Amino acid sequence: MRQRTDGTGFATRAIHAGERPDPTTHAHNTPIYATATFAFDTAAQKEEAVDRALAWEPGQYFYSRTSNPTNRALEEKIASLEGAEDAVVASSGMASVSATLFAHLEAGDHLIVGDEVFAITKVLWEEDLPRRNIAVTPVDMCDLGAIEAAFLPNTKIVFIETSTNPRLRMPDIAAIAEIAHRHGALLIADNTFLSPALLRPLEHGADLVLHAATKYLSGHGDAVSGVVSGSKALIDPIRKQTDTFGQAASPFSSFLVLRGVRTLPLRTAAGSANAARLAAFLEADPRVEWVRYPGLASHPDHALATRLLGDRFGAMLTFKPRGGVEGMAAFTDHLRLCDIGVSLGDVFTLVYPRPKDGAIIRVSVGCEDADDLVEDFALGLSFVK
Ligand SMILES: Cc1ncc(COP(=O)(O)O)c(C=O)c1O
Repeated sequence: MRQRTDGTGFATRAIHAGERPDPTTHAHNTPIYATATFAFDTAAQKEEAVDRALAWEPGQYFYSRTSNPTNRALEEKIASLEGAEDAVVASSGMASVSATLFAHLEAGDHLIVGDEVFAITKVLWEEDLPRRNIAVTPVDMCDLGAIEAAFLPNTKIVFIETSTNPRLRMPDIAAIAEIAHRHGALLIADNTFLSPALLRPLEHGADLVLHAATKYLSGHGDAVSGVVSGSKALIDPIRKQTDTFGQAASPFSSFLVLRGVRTLPLRTAAGSANAARLAAFLEADPRVEWVRYPGLASHPDHALATRLLGDRFGAMLTFKPRGGVEGMAAFTDHLRLCDIGVSLGDVFTLVYPRPKDGAIIRVSVGCEDADDLVEDFALGLSFVK
């Protein structure tokens, strides 16, 4: 067989890593292996495959809850982009979050978490972990002194979001990794809002990085999926957890995410440029109280964001129109191009009004023409008093 390479550049690996023409049919695109089980010629071959797959050896298949070739292609692609030894995909971002925490925590352990995180992740540590005798301390992850002070002798994990939801604060990953490791704890980073195209937390000292692949990795709002990357030693227990909790990714979802990741660098460039334009437009308008975008000099973490991200700051922004809940709804309800929706990371721009969260609006900026987005936002603002 011809020797192949993934290349070295990020965009080349986003396309090539994990993917090869199918060795049996020569299909160029990675097939959806829609099969529950895999068949063997002999009892001995079946035994060997089962033993190897359950020892978490890559490329060993006997049953798709445990491992599947389409899912494996996505794992190899993401591991390459994160600079990780291994990765494991799961049925959703929450499957990845819960499998990671349950694989690496036991009753009696303590977890330090960011105090502003995705709402369902918060339910996990407000309800599910305490019920299992795992203590949780929420901390402002931009306050290194508070993180240091939160450690207990039984602290095992520090869990951060690399850009917080919805106020888009950025923690100093390297500084937090240093504190966590000094206390013998792991640092786990949810990098969903930024993606490896902008930030690779393992390069800054995190031990595991996870994503709702539903968002930027898929990029088209058509799949629900999750992925965790790190060393094989840390990934193997998570793989086992997804198997025992039945959180296997669907090969069809993995096929969609594989296709999405190939254009991640292109979408990241387009989304970041559009978001920078919209953020500047909103900040200059007197009907807007404030705008939070890491690329703006007014962002509290702008200097850190510049150090970590360079000159592209992602496609998420949050702002507060004047007029409270009425002003918020006046804006969103008069848009003609952008849709109101709770997800993010899509090529379509989505606005997420949050009446119970200070009447702010979180925007996941898509890849449309910037002029069209500015026109739609100007229309929305024209109804804000
Ligand atoms: C930061 C973050 N982490 C995890 C999740 C969970 O992902 P999923 O919806 O795929 O379960 C989300 C979902 O919005 C998210 O925003």
